[in-house]
Amino acid sequence: MKLQGCSAVVTGGASGLGEATARALAAEGVKVALFDLNRERGEAVAAEIGGILCEADITDDASVDAAFARARAANGQERILVNCAGRGNSFKTAGRNKETGAIEQFPIDAFEKIILLNIVGTFRCITKAAAGMMTLDPLEDGERGVIVNTASVAAEDGQMGQAAYASSKAAIVGLTLPVARDLMREGIRVNAILPGIFNTPLFATAKPQVKEALAANVPFPKRLGEAHEFASLALEMCRNTYFNGEDVRLDGALRMGPR
Ligand SMILES: NC(=O)c1ccc[n+]([C@@H]2O[C@H](COP(=O)([O-])OP(=O)(O)OC[C@H]3O[C@@H](n4cnc5c(N)ncnc54)[C@H](O)[C@@H]3O)[C@@H](O)[C@H]2O)c1
Repeated sequence: MKLQGCSAVVTGGASGLGEATARALAAEGVKVALFDLNRERGEAVAAEIGGILCEADITDDASVDAAFARARAANGQERILVNCAGRGNSFKTAGRNKETGAIEQFPIDAFEKIILLNIVGTFRCITKAAAGMMTLDPLEDGERGVIVNTASVAAEDGQMGQAAYASSKAAIVGLTLPVARDLMREGIRVNAILPGIFNTPLFATAKPQVKEALAANVPFPKRLGEAHEFASLALEMCRNTYFNGEDVRLDGALRMGPR
């Protein structure tokens, strides 16, 4: 797909991997709408890249509908959707409190929140974008649109405490092929990226020693990934029409240990 002149929606576009992707798309002449909860950062990024912020909570159907309506009124129907909004939490399935020794369980509401955000929220944006893309005229090869989702290496090697996060990200991997098959007759492609450990605001509060220890575990290159490296793969997934139904790790050969 030729990117120049297309319209794109990037969820989580106010920060980190989404922000870098929004910047890279805008640099290619794409009209970008950021869907994000963070109004202040979203507006700042949108102003810098000549895009718009559509303040949205991807866990809320009405909020996402309003954001798509706003994005389409400003930029036209999107041909590109990049889903980056997401987060994790950390609880053992069942464990002992370090101080008191009391047995504690993973709080189910905390588990549900991660599932509702990472997988249900992502799928909500996919269905609404795909329905919109179906109204577009086909390009070369009959292509109408492309969707890039963000999973995590935790989908395959989730660590201690990551039951909710890892299973939500495994679900992103699990939907790639069936959704690509659902949309194949409409010329809409679907791929997912499984990032390793990336230097984003997610790690802003981590101590330098923690970042160094994480970097030391990466076989090569021995550092955290940079958001522009994620953006580069996301853009290749958009450009390359033969890229479809794939889940790709981007991790410097990292395989996460149990903790
Ligand atoms: N950074 C990493 O090392 C890493 C590794 C693997 C996977 N990931 C995944 O990549 C994605 C982006 O991570 P990041 O590091 O850029 O994080 P980040 O915290 O820098 O950015 C996430 C953005 O999503 C937005 N967001 C959160 N909940 C939202 C909601 N309900 N509705 C709309 N927007 C919402 C936040 O406001 C934020 O701007 C996440 O899905 C994360 O799980 C990150």
